[in-house]
Amino acid sequence: VSEPEPANLYEAVGGEPTFRRIIKRFYEEVARDEVLRPLYPEEDLGPAEERFRLFLIQYWGGPHTYSDQRGHPRLRMRHAPFKIGPIERDAWLRCIRIAIDEENLPEPYLSQLWAYLEMAAHSMMNSFV
Ligand code: HEM
Repeated sequence: VSEPEPANLYEAVGGEPTFRRIIKRFYEEVARDEVLRPLYPEEDLGPAEERFRLFLIQYWGGPHTYSDQRGHPRLRMRHAPFKIGPIERDAWLRCIRIAIDEENLPEPYLSQLWAYLEMAAHSMMNSFV
């Protein structure tokens, strides 16, 4: 008897606990990154960590708690107040890369997740410098 196929990437990589670990690790890097930390308006990064975790969980097929709480993501609009140029994008990608590498996610999910995050980080840029 074979196992049922996972319904989506969220389930395939281990669901909520996996996303919780990745995003927690990401914000540990943000907290000590001199490019990124000043962009975050709140002293407590906890609420930002929760928003990003809930967004990614929803995006990859998990519960829709993000939109229940925040409405339509409109991520480019929500990032408009922050200057995001190549330096900020690369700092962000460096932090998320560290967080994801520590999970040892299986293929093809690792490549899918990474392709999406690179694309999304590029599309969030709103400055050339
Ligand atoms: C929010 C920075 C890319 C998802 C934020 C905030 C900052 C920020 C400063 C506000 C913190 C807060 O929630 O209070 C950046 C920078 C990026 C980047 C410098 C570099 C490219 C991304 C990408 C995604 C993303 C690629 C998605 C894949 C989010 C989400 C929120 C957020 C979901 C919360 C939106 C809400 O208010 O509901 N980001 N971000 N960010 N970011 Fe990013």
